[in-house]
Amino acid sequence: MGVDLIVKNGTIVSTAASYRGHVLVRDGRVLEIMVRDDLPPAREVIDAAGLHVLPGLIDPHVHFRVPGLEYKEDFDTGSQGAACGGITTVIDMPNVVPPTATVEAFQAKAAAARGRSYVDYGLYAVIVEGNSDQILPLADAGVVGYKIFLGETVGAIPAPQDGEIIDAWRIVAQTGLRCGVHAEDNGIILYLRKKLQAQGRTDPLAHLESRPAVAEAEAISRAILFAREAGSKLMIFHMSAAEGVELVRRGKDSGVDVMGETAPHYLIMEAEDMVRMGLGSLLKVNPPVRSREHAEALWRGLLDGTIEVIGTDHAPHTPEEKMAEQPMGDIWKALAGWPGVETNVPLMLTQVSAGRMSLNHYVKVQAEGAARAWNLWPRKGHLGRGADADITIVDLQREGVIDKDKLHSKSKVTPFHGFRVRGMPVYTIVRGHVVMKHGELYGDPIGELLRPIV
Ligand code: DOR
Ligand code: ZN
Repeated sequence: MGVDLIVKNGTIVSTAASYRGHVLVRDGRVLEIMVRDDLPPAREVIDAAGLHVLPGLIDPHVHFRVPGLEYKEDFDTGSQGAACGGITTVIDMPNVVPPTATVEAFQAKAAAARGRSYVDYGLYAVIVEGNSDQILPLADAGVVGYKIFLGETVGAIPAPQDGEIIDAWRIVAQTGLRCGVHAEDNGIILYLRKKLQAQGRTDPLAHLESRPAVAEAEAISRAILFAREAGSKLMIFHMSAAEGVELVRRGKDSGVDVMGETAPHYLIMEAEDMVRMGLGSLLKVNPPVRSREHAEALWRGLLDGTIEVIGTDHAPHTPEEKMAEQPMGDIWKALAGWPGVETNVPLMLTQVSAGRMSLNHYVKVQAEGAARAWNLWPRKGHLGRGADADITIVDLQREGVIDKDKLHSKSKVTPFHGFRVRGMPVYTIVRGHVVMKHGELYGDPIGELLRPIV
């Protein structure tokens, strides 16, 4: 039997080691990792000499906006950004129209994505007031997990009352799946927004003041309490604050299955950049980017295993919605978020180049962590024999500049425009299919819907 593809001569990077070797692929899976050089013939050979060969990188937090919000993004454009950004699997968020709160909505969303994605994808469902009867059927239908928006954000999907959350999570516990939360306390943030608006504040930092770290801490501690009570698995999405890191650390120590996710902007940006760099509304996101001290606490959490996942919160909006023409205008009028799926890997590899994290640890938080959290392991997240042949080949020496106009997303608005990067993806391979080669999209939209392994 022949070999379909060999990625040869690269430095293979796992969470534990880096070594020279060759990845052999057959039928979309890893057939073998060979260290010896007597390679068999193969239909296709990629010479990765001088390059690093990573397990396919996963972005477990994207908003591809289908159905209903295609004017912002869709699976074609979003997944093109993923492929060109070195991401082989995405997991898509449920704040679409209609929200992914029923099996019917899930099926409609899966149908809208089918045949359009360049990368593999999983879908989350949302838990709202009154849809607990959908939790088990949604698991049967194939969601990889659930989300609750504890604090108001784009899409304005309210959380159930606390008692109903606990009941819902008892049902989630039966599925073996995990529920993630957007952790900001609604009472605190709505009160503060009203107060700041009454004071006439419209400057960029008013948004940060309206969503303080204590609101995140309150929501995280509540979620951990409820997960303990219900015996369910928990993910804290896009952690932004030092207090939360400590809470998740203690939650883990106390035996709760709680995991943390953070995003590149919380690690490399600070709130003052809204003013100092004139980014204003371009850097508006929920939860907000905070001070350097918070960023340093997040780095410590990332390095000590408290935060196990990086997700981008890829959240595209139009230039008008982002107030791209007048970023220092009325901050309340701008929508939160920007497209991140394509810029993430270069930004994080730049941090690797700068010595903030090893490439092995990066593989842990950008591949293994999400695969384990969302029950895609051992099919995704590593390059072991029999795993899907999802491979991201990166060139750590390659330098570039992030250019908003080159993004594949429908949204060309990013606070990272003009950022210099060192370290870029050069091949993206999904189940043995090359979907990006030297920065250019390649091949066909072969991405498939992923079902969790439970
Ligand atoms: O900034 C954000 N944008 N935070 C969220 O929680 C949602 C997201 C969006 O959907 O635009
Ligand atoms: Zn969120």
